[in-house]
Amino acid sequence: MSDEKFTRQRLLAVHTLTPNLFTLRTTRDPGFRFQAGQFARLGVTKADGSVAWRAYSMVSSPYDEFLEFFSVVVPGGEFTSELSRLQVGDELLIERQAFGYLTLDRFADGRDLWLLATGTGLAPFLSILQGFEAWERFERIFLVYSARHGKDLAYGDLIAGLESRDYLAEHAGKLTFIPLTSREAWPGALQGRITDLIASGELERAAGAELSPEHSRVMICGNPEMIDDTRKVLKARDMNLSLSRRPGAVAVETYW
Ligand SMILES: Cc1cc2nc3c(=O)[nH]c(=O)nc-3n(C[C@H](O)[C@H](O)[C@H](O)COP(=O)(O)OP(=O)(O)OC[C@H]3O[C@@H](n4cnc5c(N)ncnc54)[C@H](O)[C@@H]3O)c2cc1C
Ligand SMILES: NC(=O)c1ccc[n+]([C@@H]2O[C@H](COP(=O)([O-])OP(=O)(O)OC[C@H]3O[C@@H](n4cnc5c(N)ncnc54)[C@H](OP(=O)(O)O)[C@@H]3O)[C@@H](O)[C@H]2O)c1
Repeated sequence: MSDEKFTRQRLLAVHTLTPNLFTLRTTRDPGFRFQAGQFARLGVTKADGSVAWRAYSMVSSPYDEFLEFFSVVVPGGEFTSELSRLQVGDELLIERQAFGYLTLDRFADGRDLWLLATGTGLAPFLSILQGFEAWERFERIFLVYSARHGKDLAYGDLIAGLESRDYLAEHAGKLTFIPLTSREAWPGALQGRITDLIASGELERAAGAELSPEHSRVMICGNPEMIDDTRKVLKARDMNLSLSRRPGAVAVETYW
């Protein structure tokens, strides 16, 4: 990638959550603009001097002066092996242009917003929920976050604190957070996969709301198989991908 296509930013903070999950905060180039839900391409310089690039959704909101990212560590992964070694003060390359269509402007209307994430697929939803738009446009918001184990459920404090932020106080009560764990029972979480819990009706019972093409707008992010399988379950209920030529109820971002 040519030099003028990216900027060099510095790590401000790194937090290890589990051996396979961490968050990092970086400086933000004042010229870097994005919409909540979009991703950036990050570059790390490897030992041989070459740069590995990967897509990463912003966790932080477009209003924040810093950028924040939430990362998995893939054992032996070309990019995450390097990224997870970085420390405060180290350099991270960030492409100037942000990308992606997992943004609220995919939906023209809708009453309930459903945000369905597996693993680090939570990231774009945290960016969306830290802005005003989702809260102003939708009557209810359901954040469904699926992880293998309870210890993998990140950002609990940020999520719990959203409705007490000054600028969101008037919307308090709109958000229902539904954590899911698939490989163990966990206090406060439903047990199982998003797909199975939709098919059985358990997710809607927990939400106290129905998934319907009229009222629900669904964003899905993370594991590609989960996205395919969830799209099938939703399609059976007449909920289809939202395209510019044919508005629908579903928008997705696959991570690999
Ligand atoms: C649009 C977009 C946004 C993305 N945003 C994020 C993000 O915010 N956070 C993040 O951690 N990753 C994100 N990814 C994935 C990221 O780009 C890399 O795939 C990831 O950093 C792993 O890189 P790697 O070189 O170590 O392994 P790769 O060689 O890229 O991947 C190897 C394997 O690891 C698994 N894998 C890759 N990414 C993940 C993941 N996120 N969670 C679980 N398993 C995974 C898959 O099985 C994949 O085949 C995003 C991908 C896309 C396309
Ligand atoms: N070495 C380790 O101990 C360890 C631990 C964790 C992560 N990792 C690394 O991290 C990566 C996986 O990360 P992750 O756990 O965040 O991602 P993940 O494998 O995508 O799992 C996240 C959640 O998505 C669910 N899911 C997966 N496929 C689905 C489908 N088709 N339909 C519905 N739900 C589905 C999983 O349920 P299920 O549990 O039912 O699959 C889990 O609840 C691996 O590539 C691995 O490298 C390693």
